[in-house]
Amino acid sequence: MRGEGDHSLLKDGLARIQREVDSLFDALLPIPQDTRARLVEGMRYAAIGGGKRVRPLLLVSTAELFGVDRNRALRAGCAVEAIHAYSLIHDDLPCMDDDDLRHGKPTLHKAFDEATAVLAGDSLHALAFEILADQETSADPFTRSELILTLGNASGKDGMAGGQMMDMLAEGEDYDLHTITRLQQLKTGALLAAAVEMGAIMGHVQPEGRAHLRAYARDIGLAFQIADDLLDVEGDADKAGKALRKDESQGKQTFVTLMGVDKAREQARALVDQAIGHLAVHGEDAAMLRAVARYIVERDR
Ligand code: IPE
Ligand code: IPE
Ligand code: MG
Ligand code: MG
Ligand code: MG
Repeated sequence: MRGEGDHSLLKDGLARIQREVDSLFDALLPIPQDTRARLVEGMRYAAIGGGKRVRPLLLVSTAELFGVDRNRALRAGCAVEAIHAYSLIHDDLPCMDDDDLRHGKPTLHKAFDEATAVLAGDSLHALAFEILADQETSADPFTRSELILTLGNASGKDGMAGGQMMDMLAEGEDYDLHTITRLQQLKTGALLAAAVEMGAIMGHVQPEGRAHLRAYARDIGLAFQIADDLLDVEGDADKAGKALRKDESQGKQTFVTLMGVDKAREQARALVDQAIGHLAVHGEDAAMLRAVARYIVERDR
């Protein structure tokens, strides 16, 4: 059951992380006094304001379970969010989903131009690893290297970009449930899972001790993309801040196209219950992670 306390916990948690992420990006991205100014303005346009910041919230909330300093965890959270922001810039380009609206404002290539959008994406990608390699994120070089490896795996061919490739090739293909699950796990699940994993890495939790958190992350990752696909079919575009009803016309194969709205929603809710089950060992300490799991399927944007 979702109590009132849970609701305000999440609301406050989101509001706080949104403020923190915005102010860290602001500090990390001063505008240079030369013709690169346009590039950094583009990066700021995409990275500051607008996003829900679910990935940083997951990272910081996981790290908190293990007593990690919040400012350090926030830096790692911004690294994941920088990858996410870059993935959205490129996802919206005419050669990909060709979208004009993101976070309720024109997409970067519309507000600026395509070259700026490509380069701002590239630079946010690089920024993610610059943040993680910095001693301010962790004093321990082994921890830094594990963070970098984890985010690198989740971003490239075995993660987000790999899933995006499968997504682009979905048109005209007859993907089965197994293939759609794989696509979604890579496209969306990998970065969400990396956020949780990186929180545990910062807490010096050994891989054996991370199994239940990985299980949690896997379940919410899948539920998250099912919710996105459901929003595409039945959401309110003003609230979502992006164009909806696009997946079908673009020939995208999703859980919703495969099993229909009702079954997809049922599946997403079952995944969230399952995810919450994996957190039992943490008791009350995991209240925020439980609240995030519920929010993932109930959100309207
Ligand atoms: C949207 O992600 C794209 C997907 C991976 C499904 P989010 O829903 O997390 O996007 P923002 O950052 O909150 O807008
Ligand atoms: C994008 O998925 C996932 C990324 C890796 C960026 P979608 O294409 O469904 O995301 P939206 O609906 O444009 O936010
Ligand atoms: Mg897409
Ligand atoms: Mg898209
Ligand atoms: Mg979508």
